[in-house]
Amino acid sequence: MYVCLCKGVTDKTIRRAVDHGVSSMRELRQEFGVGGQCGCCTQCAKDVLNDAIAAR
Ligand code: FES
Repeated sequence: MYVCLCKGVTDKTIRRAVDHGVSSMRELRQEFGVGGQCGCCTQCAKDVLNDAIAAR
């Protein structure tokens, strides 16, 4: 599913990024722009990020 519509970032992309070492919203924003535009996706992105980190 799409997490960040502004940047077209999916939960799969976030999970893959976590597999490659991303561990914070700041890094997600730097790499993909997640949350950097309207900001609507921030909470959902955090949830996916934390879930992916917990599953690592
Ligand atoms: Fe992610 Fe707008 S939906 S910045």
